[in-house]
Amino acid sequence: MKLLVSVLFISLCFSSSVLPAIARGGIPSSNPTGYGYGTQTGSGRHLFGEDGSQTSVDAQGYMTNSDLEMAIKDFGRRCSNISRVYSIGESVNGVPLWVIEISDKPGEEEPEPAFKYIGNVHGDEPVGRELLMHLANWICDNFLTDPMVTLIVDNVHLHILPSMNPDGFSLRRRGNANNIDLNRDFPDQFFNMNDDVDVRQPETRAIMKWLRKIHFTASASLHGGAVVANYPWDGTQDKRRMYFGCPDDKIFRFLASVYSRSHYNMSLSKEFEGGITNGASWYPIYGGMQDWNYIYGGCLELTLEISDNKWPPANELLTLWEYNKKSMLDLVATVVQTGVHGRILTSDGGKPLPGSIAINGIDYTVKASTAFADYHRLLAPGGRYEVTAIVPGYKSKTTVISLEESGTNVDFIFDPEVDRRWDSISIIWGPRLEVYLLMIVAVFLLFLCRRRTISRLKQRQLAGLKRPVVV
Ligand SMILES: *[C@@H]1O[C@H](CO)[C@@H](O)[C@H](O)[C@H]1NC(C)=O
Ligand SMILES: [Zn+2]
Repeated sequence: MKLLVSVLFISLCFSSSVLPAIARGGIPSSNPTGYGYGTQTGSGRHLFGEDGSQTSVDAQGYMTNSDLEMAIKDFGRRCSNISRVYSIGESVNGVPLWVIEISDKPGEEEPEPAFKYIGNVHGDEPVGRELLMHLANWICDNFLTDPMVTLIVDNVHLHILPSMNPDGFSLRRRGNANNIDLNRDFPDQFFNMNDDVDVRQPETRAIMKWLRKIHFTASASLHGGAVVANYPWDGTQDKRRMYFGCPDDKIFRFLASVYSRSHYNMSLSKEFEGGITNGASWYPIYGGMQDWNYIYGGCLELTLEISDNKWPPANELLTLWEYNKKSMLDLVATVVQTGVHGRILTSDGGKPLPGSIAINGIDYTVKASTAFADYHRLLAPGGRYEVTAIVPGYKSKTTVISLEESGTNVDFIFDPEVDRRWDSISIIWGPRLEVYLLMIVAVFLLFLCRRRTISRLKQRQLAGLKRPVVV
């Protein structure tokens, strides 16, 4: 009893941080579609914004965290033939970070690219989490009838995390429950501010662990506050605001343009030419998720700003979904429709080899998967590329491809015997060549010397022996 009272007391003291956990515990929503708001907010309630100032948000019509959890689980049941639901971890307040995986073989590894969408990185940017549920349901409803949807389900493993920051959402603010901006919490290439793993937020750690498990080819996170497709780099070395392209600038510009062009009016932007922008030329940020994905995750990630109003009235959500629907599908499809794809195998029995793919002129390598040695190297269409497969212990193989509008397939087959022997020769054929040659000459001279002395000795012996015979 005493315990119960103290638990109640503590809950009251920290009601704001405990609330999401209570909600997740299953206060049933009166309306599973998300209309009719629960206990957490009322319309127009004043809450703290990202800068600590009070903001007025109308959350009516938006899914609560428990509504979202229910929507995800309902989806998993309704669409079990092409999906599975799993969690990658928990938020500070213990809300599971649910992911929907969509594929014709969900949960199984296949020699196919994986794509991920992440919504609600910033708690006060909730449009993405709503649109991602629309996307999942649209795919479920149109599999086998819509060619683009069928292509995606058959050839891609699409992972959808509708909310990376459920605590921030229920607190109606940008940061998580510790008020940390999750899009500044990743390791950074220039500044070591986030290198201490222990102080990194659980939501960030969950994403990092996820990327070690699943080999994503490309991804996008959804934000609000502008309408533009943003691509790396997000940060510059000296914190100056300027265009700072990464080694894959060309394909990144292409990917951002795919989104922008298919969008209702993103490409008509007056602020951003073509509706796309390099992150650092807009405003540099450090510790962002986008650059980290590209550097450490082998994943080409975009940051998509999809509504000027961070928290538009809920009756605009369907329109926003219509504006973004084609873009969202087209972007996922690019991971099979552009670039070069294939496998790295041995010639005897086609065993997968742990290799990577390099493109001449682009300082970035893409690893093949461990299970199938399939690789997916996105490249901008309309170019000639020199593609090299690198496998430790083998001589690299290079081929030249010409990309038109669509992607292409190249399997690299390594002969285990021949390629290995050639490789050992190439090791000798290095700077130590002279040493080896000298050694060979020395051995030969020694051999000659010995032969001469032996034959002289023999002649003498023979002579010696003969002499008494002759004499
Ligand atoms: C795009 O459409 C929305 C909704 O009609 C409008 O508010 C916005 O100003 C438009 N943007 C551009 C660049 O035309
Ligand atoms: Zn944001």
